Amino acid sequence: MALYSEKVMDHFRNPRNMGKLDDADGIGEVGNAKCGDIMRMYIKVDDEGVITDCKFNTFGCGSAIATSSMATELIIGKSVKDALALSNQAVVEALDGLPVHKIHCSVLAEQAVRAAVKDYYDRNGIAYDPADFPLSKEEEEAACDL
Ligand code: FES
Repeated sequence: MALYSEKVMDHFRNPRNMGKLDDADGIGEVGNAKCGDIMRMYIKVDDEGVITDCKFNTFGCGSAIATSSMATELIIGKSVKDALALSNQAVVEALDGLPVHKIHCSVLAEQAVRAAVKDYYDRNGIAYDPADFPLSKEEEEAACDL
């Protein structure tokens, strides 16, 4: 069996929504503590709170590119609340799976979406439950060191 599914290879070779949104309503940048790669996600949100456009940039591996590409497709047209509910498992399933040692790459996409939504909330003074934006294990450990 091939290591990567056809969908992963397709999204890696032809990433959807790669680039930058100059007029983004929310931008999330996250780093992957496991490999040091980074991801930036841009979202455009309309007055109803629906994500109308989304783009990403990454210094990440092929799996990070494929999962981010799929994540943008999954959240465009959804409300920011629904985007928050997007899990890395859902992205991996939509790609017909990833090798176990590449699952951490899919976390980058999920966290970047969450960070972009949080930035959108912060910019617009929208109240939110901090529990929706838990610190990563690494951030928690860093906070403990302060
Ligand atoms: Fe870093 Fe995949 S190895 S995101």
